[in-house]
Amino acid sequence: MSEYIEITGGAPVSGAVAISGAKNAALPMLMASLLSAEPCVFENVPNLEDVNLTLHLLEHLGAQTEFSGSRIRVVVPQLLATEASYSLVKALRASFWVLGPLLARGRAARVALPGGDIIGARPVDMHLAALAQMGADIKVKHGVVFASAVSGLKPADIDLRFPSVGATHQVMMAAALAPGVTRIKGAAREPEVIALADMINRMGGEVIGAGSSNIEIHGKEELGGCEVTLIGDRIEAGTYLLAACASGGSLRADGVKPAHLGKFLDILTAMGVSVECGDNYVSVRRAGALKPVHVTTGPFPEFATDLQAPLMAALCFADGESSIEETVFEGRFGHVSELCRMGADIRVADRLATIFGKPKLTGAVVEAHDIRAGAALVIAAAASEGESQIHDVHHLRRGYQTLESKLRGMGIKVGVKYSDAEDVMFTGC
Ligand code: UD1
Repeated sequence: MSEYIEITGGAPVSGAVAISGAKNAALPMLMASLLSAEPCVFENVPNLEDVNLTLHLLEHLGAQTEFSGSRIRVVVPQLLATEASYSLVKALRASFWVLGPLLARGRAARVALPGGDIIGARPVDMHLAALAQMGADIKVKHGVVFASAVSGLKPADIDLRFPSVGATHQVMMAAALAPGVTRIKGAAREPEVIALADMINRMGGEVIGAGSSNIEIHGKEELGGCEVTLIGDRIEAGTYLLAACASGGSLRADGVKPAHLGKFLDILTAMGVSVECGDNYVSVRRAGALKPVHVTTGPFPEFATDLQAPLMAALCFADGESSIEETVFEGRFGHVSELCRMGADIRVADRLATIFGKPKLTGAVVEAHDIRAGAALVIAAAASEGESQIHDVHHLRRGYQTLESKLRGMGIKVGVKYSDAEDVMFTGC
């Protein structure tokens, strides 16, 4: 049996929605608990597939974990293993980020290479080059990274050729336990990087400059425990706000900092949506037709690649021709074919998608090829006429906590159904 969700669209998405803690902040921060023998406590953690996989990985490495409500306690008295297998890294690419903390605390690590996925090739060359610069001996054999730093990691000056979020996390965690000053030039500036730096500082570390392109990490001999509250999930918030824009509704997303949305709010304004912000919320109201826009994705504070598919779904309903250039992940247009099955008119040439807006789309049977492609389909389904079935829901489960109840709370008619294998094969044709 395979789970799918059925959405009956057409009604304006409206009301208020409580945004959960940020998945992409939770994963590196949970992994950073490997850096200490003392307990780390996290509040406002979303109960998601990716978070549970991370806990599973940490337990395998020697962590004791407790997850109750939205609170997680992790303590790693000692590392019992220094290996992350391919099955774990394949299920959760971010598992690769344990390489740095394992090397820093355990002085050895064996982590499977993640490989590419549906959105792109996703190499990890910058991670490996940075750790090698910090004195790690790195060999890649049979798809596995074998790394060791027998006398500990050393500080280094790291120059990232692209502001990779994962490479920035990786170096910050490794350098936190490498006494001396490590400098990262060209660091990622995402809010999740600031959140990880804040956690390391609460553990007794010293990370300066997170949020800018130049980060300095003053490594310590050891780190203590900490208590932290996760920031709200800017991508979840963006997804639901776009559902309101696409369907002609109005919505307040509570629990998200407007500054964390970067250029996104300017783009909504350019689309003719009225936007109101408070300290910890964003409200949108669509009064007239959606205006077309021309958008390029980029590292923070540019428009987030994770909101590219959701934005495209909303632009299918705009009054005119929009374009989106995807500069971060080369293969991130898997949602286009599915949106076209709902009647959208989108043409893709290389990394540029041109979207010819239409007053309406019609519900269809579609597949979520990845987490944000799934989010785009939810938006399109909510704003379309008739019923849609969204298959491969497991992708959405990775990043959207209590999806159905949140959708219902915003006035969307949604049901969870199960199909037999034959139906799934048919929808996959
Ligand atoms: C993180 C986010 C993901 C988001 C992405 C960009 C998590 C769990 N995932 O992914 O949701 O879409 O940031 O904001 O937080 N690259 C290299 N070599 C490297 C590392 C990266 O070429 O060593 C390239 C990637 O292939 C990609 C670009 O750099 O084209 C950005 O990737 P990166 O910022 O590292 O993304 P992730 O950290 O994997």
